[in-house]
Amino acid sequence: MRVLSGIQPTGRFHWGNYFGAIRQYVQLQYQAEEAFYFIANLHALTTIRDRELLKQYTLDAAIDLLALGIDPDRATLFVQSDVPQVCELCWLLMTVTPMGLLERCHAYKDKKAKGLPADAGLFTYPVLQAADILAYDSDTVPVGEDQVQHIEVCRDVAQSFNSRFGPTFVLPEARVMRDAARVPGIDGEKMSKSYNNTIDIFDPPEVVRKKVMRIKTDCRPPEEPKDPDTDTLYQLYSLFAPPAEREAMAARYRQGGFGYAEVKTALADLAVNFFTEARERRRELEAHPARVREILGDGAAKARRKAAEVLRRAKEACGVIY
Ligand code: ADP
Ligand code: TRP
Repeated sequence: MRVLSGIQPTGRFHWGNYFGAIRQYVQLQYQAEEAFYFIANLHALTTIRDRELLKQYTLDAAIDLLALGIDPDRATLFVQSDVPQVCELCWLLMTVTPMGLLERCHAYKDKKAKGLPADAGLFTYPVLQAADILAYDSDTVPVGEDQVQHIEVCRDVAQSFNSRFGPTFVLPEARVMRDAARVPGIDGEKMSKSYNNTIDIFDPPEVVRKKVMRIKTDCRPPEEPKDPDTDTLYQLYSLFAPPAEREAMAARYRQGGFGYAEVKTALADLAVNFFTEARERRRELEAHPARVREILGDGAAKARRKAAEVLRRAKEACGVIY
């Protein structure tokens, strides 16, 4: 198994990013023959146009990923823009990508539907993502549910290239964590930076507690039995609780006779605890930025070697080498 994933440095990571994506990155680095994880700063450029902010978020993302368990001895961690081969590959892929395929992609379609101006970067975003994946012969791409469409586009583009020029690219598959495909935010909608409903992994404990208290619940009386599976608070609780506690809480929901405030306190305690070690590692890494840059530098060198090999194969296949 050759694993790859990317995450955009567009702000601080939240619980949805952790349970939907980052947790899988960490698990898969132990199972994969090779694991590549990168910070998608070129993709982030389609939304962040503040130079200093983008630089800051890029380094923050690296520190966060290392603090959360990405181990540079097991996985290759790098910044997307340090591998220019991917942009060259992106052009080759663009020449076999039908417009209609990109017109159907959510990010572009949603922006257009709102009457907002879209640029070519946003329109061709999925092709750059395809290049990211294909450049490393990746077969497994751990992501949240919202990225599945992009992995499908990647397969279509790879197939389109392969059918014209002969077998060149490996067809990748998305890997979605079933229990965290769509982590809800404090308002019950999908947790997302763009909805302002996140609880961030490295929010200080008092902020976590405050946000947990604001999680939307219904106003049915405590004694009434409730369905845990449709309750946002329970869904979040179950991400952190060990199986026995999770089951016990589900049974209490079905029985009724408990208050939401009590569940919120339990969730806040679990969540603060859950990330305590990562918080300490983060402080340590923050104090040693040179070490972080060195890890990214080594990762980029390794990623460039692999991407150069695949790019050469692709150029030979389509006749761009003479
Ligand atoms: P955001 O929606 O906050 O901008 P991103 O689009 O940058 O988050 O997502 C980064 C990764 O985290 C992707 O793999 C995405 O699928 C995953 N992810 C984001 N939000 C969630 C969520 N609420 N539930 C599950 N996975 C998520
Ligand atoms: N588009 C992805 C997101 O918003 C980030 C990303 C860029 C990515 N390139 C990728 C994810 C390649 C998986 C594989 O989350």
